[in-house]
Amino acid sequence: MQLVADRLHKKFGAITAVAGVSFAATPGEVLGLLGPNGAGKSTIISMLSGLTKPDMGAVQIDGRPLGTGADPGKQCIGLVTQEITLLEDLPARMNLEFFGGLYGLSGHKLAARIAAVLELTSLSDRAGDAPKEFSGGMRRRLNIACALLHEPHILLLDEPTVGVDPQSRNAIFETIEVLAGEGRTLIYTTHYMEEVERLCDRVVIIDHGKVLADDSLSGLLASAPVANKLTLRYDLPPDRAALTEITGLPGVIQVDLAGTQLSVSAADLGTAAPRVLERLAARGFSCQELTSRRANLEDVFLALTGRTLRDA
Ligand SMILES: Nc1ncnc2c1ncn2[C@@H]1O[C@H](COP(=O)(O)OP(=O)(O)O)[C@@H](O)[C@H]1O
Ligand SMILES: [Mg+2]
Repeated sequence: MQLVADRLHKKFGAITAVAGVSFAATPGEVLGLLGPNGAGKSTIISMLSGLTKPDMGAVQIDGRPLGTGADPGKQCIGLVTQEITLLEDLPARMNLEFFGGLYGLSGHKLAARIAAVLELTSLSDRAGDAPKEFSGGMRRRLNIACALLHEPHILLLDEPTVGVDPQSRNAIFETIEVLAGEGRTLIYTTHYMEEVERLCDRVVIIDHGKVLADDSLSGLLASAPVANKLTLRYDLPPDRAALTEITGLPGVIQVDLAGTQLSVSAADLGTAAPRVLERLAARGFSCQELTSRRANLEDVFLALTGRTLRDA
């Protein structure tokens, strides 16, 4: 099912949390909402799930507007909120029975769904234990399992890996990939760009309640003024003629020399790096040390906002 955010606005008193956010999420796609703390991600998720009423704008599921009350459209949505909500003292299985009951499941159907979501989140062997005995990662996996009981076509996940160990994080990623493979629509919020790079087909970058960019990862890297960087160290720094020559090489964007260290920004490292090395070697400058770094989403965010995601 297609989920559309259409010019969503939300204010809390004097604070504008969301200021005209639009995007569309498509079946089979993991859409990443990437932005720093306070960007408005959770407020967007809350509006997408029908929990919070937008001040302006609308949410649509397959073209049908979603209301905030007992709208039947909510049956299609699974929500994994930023804060984990579980019955801490009750066994995992009873948690699933409780949340399944809220979605109107019972009997054999509920039992079958509980078995399926426990399997999917690798918790089958811990169904008799209570969440209070679980690690952060296991609690999150159970929380995700609860959101999947009613087989939602759309799944909203709000920073589900914060406070989660790496093993559970990978298990969560694998679950998300399975769900996307089944043709479900997934929206995943995070402030970790590595997660978006690993998981998301498309990225909507949010800052101060606005969409700064909406594209595939490769599209973002190609459109923002960011470059891959090659850093070379020479015992004898290249001379002016050498620098002029490599600056003119195809694909080379910028060349900077600081002491014995040469930094080369290039659109495509694969073609630029060998050319730079070869031209400098031909002029008698032999490289002592070489490192390279691919442009990433952090560079895109920096180019768009002038800030890094970490200190934003
Ligand atoms: N219920 C609320 N009451 C007042 N301010 C809120 C409320 N929820 C969010 N905010 C504010 O709205 C902004 C966006 O918050 P939020 O959507 O939680 O961002 P994110 O999830 O990206 O960290 C922040 O300035 C936050 O303090
Ligand atoms: Mg949040």
